[in-house]
Amino acid sequence: MQKIGVIFDLDGVIVDTAKYHFLAWKSLADELGFQFTETHNELLKGVSRVKSLEILLEIGNVTLSEREKQKILKSKNEHYLSYITKMGQEEILPGVTELLDTLDNLKIDYVLGSASKNAALILKQVNLLDRFKAIVDGNSVSRAKPDPEVFLIGAQKLQLSPENCVVFEDAIAGVEAANTANMISVGIGDKNTLSEADYNFNDLTELPSQFFQSLLVEN
Ligand code: BG6
Ligand code: MG
Repeated sequence: MQKIGVIFDLDGVIVDTAKYHFLAWKSLADELGFQFTETHNELLKGVSRVKSLEILLEIGNVTLSEREKQKILKSKNEHYLSYITKMGQEEILPGVTELLDTLDNLKIDYVLGSASKNAALILKQVNLLDRFKAIVDGNSVSRAKPDPEVFLIGAQKLQLSPENCVVFEDAIAGVEAANTANMISVGIGDKNTLSEADYNFNDLTELPSQFFQSLLVEN
C-alpha cells in the first residue's frame, strides 16, 4: 500500500481569517478614499500580502511610492494582528479537529502550506500548532501561490513525492498550485469557483469517512 500525506492551507480551510483580512484592508481603503467590498475581498484569497496590496490599489486606482506601500503593509498587518491575537479554539472551522484525529489514527502525516506570514501565530492562537509535522508558510517561500513552491516544500517535509500528497485548499490560486505540483487537490468551498480541483466539498464535515482509504487504494 502506497503512503500518502496531507498539506493543509490555513486561511479558509482551518480557520476563517478572511473576515479579519477584510476588515483590515477595508479600513485602509476607507483612509485612501475608495470603496472596498466583500466581493473585492474574494480576489485577495490565497494571495500574498504584497500582491493583495497591489490588487487593492488597482481597485482604488491609487498609485503609491514604494515607501508608502511598505508603511501601509505594516499598518495593515498591525490592524490584522489586533484581531488574530484575540482568536481562540472556537474559531477552528467545522470538521477540522475530527479530520486531524482521523489522520492521526490512520498514521497519515500532515503539514501546513500557507501563504500567510502569520501562520504559526494563528495556529498557536487556536492551539493547533503542535499537531502539524511542519509549517511551510509565507516566510518559507520566495514565490507565492499559484506557484507550487509552498506545496513542493511541504512534500519534502512529508518525505513524499508530490503525487502522494493531498492538498486541502479554499482558493483558486491554491488549487492551481496543487495541480501544477502534480498533487491531489481537494477544493473546500464553492464547487463552481474551485472547479479545477480533483475533489470538491463545501466544508470538511462533508469528507466521506473512507476518503483517505479510497485514495490509498487508488494510489
Ligand atoms: C493567505 C490568505 O492565506 O495569506 C490571503 O488567503 C493573505 O488573503 C495571505 O493575503 C497572506 O497573509 P499574511 O498573514 O501574511 O498577511
Ligand atoms: Mg486559503
